[in-house]
Amino acid sequence: MDMTKVPARSGSHNVEDLDTLRKGFDWEEIKKNFSWYKTGKVNAAYEAIDRHAEDPAKKDQVALLYSAPDREESVTFEQLRKQSNKTANIFKKYGVQKGDRVFLFMPRSPEFYANFFGILKVGAIAGPLFEAFMEQAVRDRLEDSEATMLITTPELLERVPVDDLPNLKQIVLVGADDVKDDGYINFNQEMEQASDQFEIEWVDLEDGMLIHYTSGSTGKPKGVYHVHNAMIQHYATGKWVIDFKDDDVYWCTADPGWVTGTSYGIFAPWLNGVTNVIRGGRFSPESWYETLDKHNVTIWYTAPTALRKFVSAGEELVKQYDLSSLRHIMSVGEPLNPEVITWGLRVLDLRIHDTWWMTETGAMLIVNLPSMEIRPGSMGRPIPGVDAAIVDNEGNELPPNQMGNLAIKKGWPSMMRTIWKNPGKFESYFINGWYVSGDSAYMDEDGYFWFQGRLDDVINTSGERVGPFEVESKLIEHKAVAEAGVIGKPDPERGEIIKAFITLNPDYETSDELLEDIRQFVKKGLSAHAAPREIEIKDSIPKTRSGKIMRRLLKSWELGLPTGDTSTLEE
Ligand code: PRX
Repeated sequence: MDMTKVPARSGSHNVEDLDTLRKGFDWEEIKKNFSWYKTGKVNAAYEAIDRHAEDPAKKDQVALLYSAPDREESVTFEQLRKQSNKTANIFKKYGVQKGDRVFLFMPRSPEFYANFFGILKVGAIAGPLFEAFMEQAVRDRLEDSEATMLITTPELLERVPVDDLPNLKQIVLVGADDVKDDGYINFNQEMEQASDQFEIEWVDLEDGMLIHYTSGSTGKPKGVYHVHNAMIQHYATGKWVIDFKDDDVYWCTADPGWVTGTSYGIFAPWLNGVTNVIRGGRFSPESWYETLDKHNVTIWYTAPTALRKFVSAGEELVKQYDLSSLRHIMSVGEPLNPEVITWGLRVLDLRIHDTWWMTETGAMLIVNLPSMEIRPGSMGRPIPGVDAAIVDNEGNELPPNQMGNLAIKKGWPSMMRTIWKNPGKFESYFINGWYVSGDSAYMDEDGYFWFQGRLDDVINTSGERVGPFEVESKLIEHKAVAEAGVIGKPDPERGEIIKAFITLNPDYETSDELLEDIRQFVKKGLSAHAAPREIEIKDSIPKTRSGKIMRRLLKSWELGLPTGDTSTLEE
């Protein structure tokens, strides 16, 4: 088989020809699929859930199929409507107002989704936090967003520095048997009493819906602010790229603490009215294959790191499961190796469709879809209504096959609207009308985009975006650490691993115990995925004369590459 090109899949697809769809495309046409187009009443929760619950043909369809080792549950659109009405009533009762930030720090469960939509129904802004976050990570996000309410569990409450968060007025505890009267709101009790009828707070398309914190190369995580208008693109890419049909059973493996877990774990499937599998519990190739098999999943959206683990788990394992219901697999978050695409075709007889986008872009921008030829190693082509290009540092378009900044012409529907409390940061993404992604890439003559790497120091480990500054800041809080520089080191399975270079304070000596202690310190402070897998002790950390850590230099040393211009290096 010629692996440089995988032909389009035959059969009937929602998009038969991308070029035809692109010609004369207008987002206005997509808006006609929403009830607000006629009623003028906007709320993404209504479009995703209530609209289907009001449709006699759809209301009893399973919306959420929850599958965890200790719990299996099916929730219909009608049930999800009622449950989210109840949570909305609870939020209203406790004074949540339109525009307030309500954060969720809890594992994936049916309650998570009921709360999520309840937040939108009162017109508040949802802030989902990854459940593996530790205290510092939780604190940074709650502080910056000035969240007034947090929904969490008794187990996770330990990681919330409640006394240091003056804006946080209320904490809802989910799954607590007995919450004494110490200021916490008992979710279970409140749900028993709450009415399942609720008058949705109608909003403007430009009103806030979601804040996702993500990392850059400098500073603390930043709050990427998304508005209800994003639903237009969530819906459209669900239709075109995921190729949703009414009877699909879809599974997106991402946690709602990350943007994929909301845009494609919540909005795209439910705006399109399909059954959405939510899996709780930990990853293992066996248990994930089992989920695909047991629930007859038809479309699966996951990440290269997971796919690489399936490849290494071997072909014998796959044979034990019936995956015949799958139509295609989709991937996001990191480069998708051509070998993995070959494996999909050979072992599963399935195409794997890469998609490229970012927390900031809110939805897919560059994609592969069923009727498109795949060029393994390429991320695909832009969706209709999106202009992508490779630009130089001044924002001038470069010709095909030339490497540069991957950039998108400003103005797609799901684009972030600002960085929370940091408009300057938001502005800094744009040059000459282009949103500049920070990724380097090139475009071939046929308009396929090929990812080359990050242009900044942001680390991508197992598809998770980690800012070196955050890790460095945590490292130097450890009593033994004087200075720290953190880089992403290439790794065949995880894409990159986090490597830290540190200098020790006087009185401390290198030992395996000390290094492990430092690692654990970061893990307990931030999260497991942010903890360096490798720590190397140095006599000094290279810095510019203005005191900036030269991570590029650390990386070149690590990889044995030429060090380039070191003229700014401090003596
Ligand atoms: O470097 C790109 C990489 O992930 C970054 C965005 O990370 P995040 O905001 O966490 O969003 C991830 C999921 C939407 C990008 O700047 N990335 C994302 N998709 C791809 C990718 N790298 C290569 N190929 C992709 N398909």
